[in-house]
Amino acid sequence: MSLPQKASLTSGSGMWHTQGIRTAEGSDDLVPRLLLTDGPHGLRKQVEGSDPLALDNGIRATCFPPAVTLGSTWNPALVERVGAAIGREARAEQVAVVLGPGVNIKRSLLCGRNFEYLSEDPVLAGRIGAALVRGIQSIGVGASLKHFAANNQETDRLRVSADIDERTLREIYLAAFEHVVTHAAPWTVMCAYNRVNGTYASEHNELLTRILRQEWGFDGLVMSDWGAVDDRVRALTAGLDLEMPPTHTDAAVVDAVLAGTLDEEVVDRAAGRLLALVDRTRAESRHPTSTPVDLDAHHQLARAAAADGAVLLKNDDGLLPLSPTAPQTIALIGPFAAVPRYQGSGSSRVTPTRVDGPLDAIRALVGAAVIVETVPDDGADTDTDTDTDTVALAARADVTVLFLGLPDEAESEGFDRTDIVLPADQLRLLDRVAAVTDRLVVVLANGGVVSVAEWQDRASAVLELWLPGQAGGLAVADLLFGRTNPSGRLTETIPLRLEDSPAYLHFPGAEGTVTYGEGLYVGYRYYDTLDVPVAYPFGHGLSYTTFEHTDLEVHLDRTTALVAVTVTNTGPVAGAEVVQVYVRAHGTVGRPRHVLGGFAKLSLEPGAGERVTIPLDARSFAYWSAREHRWRVEAGEAVIEVGASSRDLRLTTTITVPVDGHPPVLTPLSTVGEALEHPEAGPLLARPGGPIATMLADDTVDPGHHAMLRSVPLSRVAAFDPAIDVERLRALLAPPTEPRIG
Ligand code: BGC
Repeated sequence: MSLPQKASLTSGSGMWHTQGIRTAEGSDDLVPRLLLTDGPHGLRKQVEGSDPLALDNGIRATCFPPAVTLGSTWNPALVERVGAAIGREARAEQVAVVLGPGVNIKRSLLCGRNFEYLSEDPVLAGRIGAALVRGIQSIGVGASLKHFAANNQETDRLRVSADIDERTLREIYLAAFEHVVTHAAPWTVMCAYNRVNGTYASEHNELLTRILRQEWGFDGLVMSDWGAVDDRVRALTAGLDLEMPPTHTDAAVVDAVLAGTLDEEVVDRAAGRLLALVDRTRAESRHPTSTPVDLDAHHQLARAAAADGAVLLKNDDGLLPLSPTAPQTIALIGPFAAVPRYQGSGSSRVTPTRVDGPLDAIRALVGAAVIVETVPDDGADTDTDTDTDTVALAARADVTVLFLGLPDEAESEGFDRTDIVLPADQLRLLDRVAAVTDRLVVVLANGGVVSVAEWQDRASAVLELWLPGQAGGLAVADLLFGRTNPSGRLTETIPLRLEDSPAYLHFPGAEGTVTYGEGLYVGYRYYDTLDVPVAYPFGHGLSYTTFEHTDLEVHLDRTTALVAVTVTNTGPVAGAEVVQVYVRAHGTVGRPRHVLGGFAKLSLEPGAGERVTIPLDARSFAYWSAREHRWRVEAGEAVIEVGASSRDLRLTTTITVPVDGHPPVLTPLSTVGEALEHPEAGPLLARPGGPIATMLADDTVDPGHHAMLRSVPLSRVAAFDPAIDVERLRALLAPPTEPRIG
């Protein structure tokens, strides 16, 4: 292949295709073009010939619940089925790669794209993200894991530098990507728009090559986000294989090779990865798909996923579920009663195959004795007559279900929100309705968190749907009338106020930089560590039944802790519990109060119990050492907590974590205290009769003196221990290192 041909393969053709190569006569494809399509919760394949910049011109496809709701299922098995359904629809449309999932961490409540992301917690985002990738790819269609990395806001997203310390980057912002890459092997990764510590993600060698490929073993293709490439040659050199869409700079790539400023091997490598993707797609297309697309079945799957991800925040006096048969009048009011809000805006916007709203779905579900009433054009907020009718209806109904949430224009890709309150007209309506009924259910539809603290006391029950996809209305009916028992759990904390949230003072930055000043303390890692009161904690979600957790046991082997617990359904109906395991690791470095280590979702009949084992790998106990540039597990005690939310911990036990087999790396600036843990340096420093051992053993000495001694760097230890074998000590030291990512 000629150099210009190879260069051409490293950029796209038009908005959605990779470039192909034809035979010399032009009659056949030597290299076929591949079709890449959004993603992530359904296909957005643009109608041929339509405006490539428009967002609402997709062919019809099943609009599954967006990531916010899929995450809230805490149900990787179900999410994998959703992924497979998306894969089937993609394959039927000759799509080679679906552009998703997005696993960026929900750092701020205000990120306009939080509805496309899974969680504030990297373990949960990683597990659900991996399930989506596995599902999509099980059909022979590639996934594109995005947006790598640290794309946690929309404000200034094409330029902003996310300034993040190395440990935070590893533990929070890279961890979900790492899990998906190492456990689900996505065919492609999409780099982010933003810069990370000053370098564009598209040009970030450390991210795109050293970490992604060399450390995590990624063997697929890295593509750019749409328009994320600032300098084509620098991007190729850093490890970006495919620029999308093209900026028509293939000639510049060729020129750079000819001028000797770009190694031809770099072009070979990128083109080779594109060819490998073509081969992968071809090989897969030779196998028949497992089943043809069944849009009705996909609609039912969308319904199940929406129901599984809905979170019952409160349910005073068991107001829910409502009876579908008992004679009663139910008022369905609010802006989303008839016309639901079910997905977000931007590149993920799917043109649904059909949409089921709550009103029709509820009418179809209830028996003849139930009168379902609504007010036409309800939600036309400025219309006082409508408002008066609505309030009168609520006053005479037995139960009122009020559908509130964020309007379409409030959240989208491309901009961030500035507050988390419901629109003023909705709060006004809620006030007036709550004044005339004490049997009020609020059903929420919103992609980003909305605050509930200022109004939730006025409602008996609050059901948070997030964005439930095209079958959301059916799911609401199932949930309100108890056909399905709610089992979604919060993937992000709902604080009392925006001002309480950890990134509040740092978001969204200014003048081209956003500093991740809260560090590791994202979401519950912050609220729980500082005991900040919240409206609802991470992991929270009620059920129509109750669960008991008993008999916690932890079995340790070398690299894994197996956490076993028995969960029993102690209530009247079948339901699903999400058992959550948190780890509070011992350490000499600052750590959040606890972190999610693992979880399991169990469906149980009334009275039934099941013993479940949740494995925790070494990572659950580790921290990223910015000094040693590696994960470290510190030996010592760790508390294992099991419960139903980060603040509803029912069982705890303490285990002893063994040393991780890697002695600390010592440098001349390591301290005596640190070196004492080292298998060779420790005995050298603390040799019997030596001044250090003598002083540390003397408990009549002021503890402050011990601390002072422990803080002495090894380079200066001879001043305190003149007889120390300096040569032997020096031989154990590595040279000091610089932070890696920057
Ligand atoms: C988004 C990506 C998307 C791409 C193609 C970009 O604006 O950030 O998530 O896949 O467009 O539509």
